[in-house]
Amino acid sequence: MLNSLSVSHADELEVLLPKAAAQADDLDQHEEWCQLVSPEGVQRIRFHDYDVMFSIPGLYERIYRDEVQCTSPTVVRDLLTEDLQAADVDPASLRVLDLGAGNGMVAEELRELGVETIFGLDILPEAKTAAERDRPGVYEEYHVADLTAPNPVVDEALRASDANCLTTVAALGFGDIPPRAFANTFDYLDDGGWVAMTIKDDFVTHGDQSGFSQLLQRMNAEGALEIVTDHRYQHRLAVSGEPLFYHAYVARKRGDIEATWIDDAELVGA
Ligand SMILES: C[S@@+](CC[C@H](N)C(=O)[O-])C[C@H]1O[C@@H](n2cnc3c(N)ncnc32)[C@H](O)[C@@H]1O
Repeated sequence: MLNSLSVSHADELEVLLPKAAAQADDLDQHEEWCQLVSPEGVQRIRFHDYDVMFSIPGLYERIYRDEVQCTSPTVVRDLLTEDLQAADVDPASLRVLDLGAGNGMVAEELRELGVETIFGLDILPEAKTAAERDRPGVYEEYHVADLTAPNPVVDEALRASDANCLTTVAALGFGDIPPRAFANTFDYLDDGGWVAMTIKDDFVTHGDQSGFSQLLQRMNAEGALEIVTDHRYQHRLAVSGEPLFYHAYVARKRGDIEATWIDDAELVGA
């Protein structure tokens, strides 16, 4: 069972981060873990074990928002608010594809901003279940899908979505969303559509192994993506207590991604 502690809410758990420096310092971001302690026992999970995280109500928020102070959903909402205002765009006119939607924290921010139509996309069925459980009604539709190769049902639904905005927050790279899934989702956007995304600082500066740096530079250079705002910020704390920096971009789609750009991006990580 995913939730081997059988608790019904994260409030019933103690969450222990590996605070001892010797335990925390050497951990890469995708290796970070914590312990969940209940009267029944102890379960160790990785921060990227989203299936477990989403199976316990309140646990994702407890770990990401409270323990390691993740700011990304709010940062993206604030930047998008400013840029939409500057462009005189009513948030209610947006039709958003939220890629790597998780349990709906980004959608909740967007709804507060005035967005009315949001399509959730995530590879995990547990994410959809958690979004419907924790934030019912924030999504118009929620598709469990692998966007590297969307099945015909999802493809048809996304083509019919008439999307003019793509959000992807704290979900690119790290064995999560690969460049091809991002590119395929971008393809569903109307020309002129908005893109609001976050990506780890290292992936856009130096030594990028994810392929995203190359793909984004190519999109920008070839005129497929016009970057409106590039904002470097503290995404969250690492378990060691060190800050982790990301970039948040607000951009506009100005053209299509060519197939060769995706192939080239994939070669970077191969
Ligand atoms: C850190 S969570 C972020 C969730 C949400 N965007 C937020 O900011 O709260 C990353 C999400 O990306 C999803 N994900 C990972 N790989 C994916 C893929 N290949 N396609 C779609 N979603 C993916 C995970 O299941 C998880 O829900």
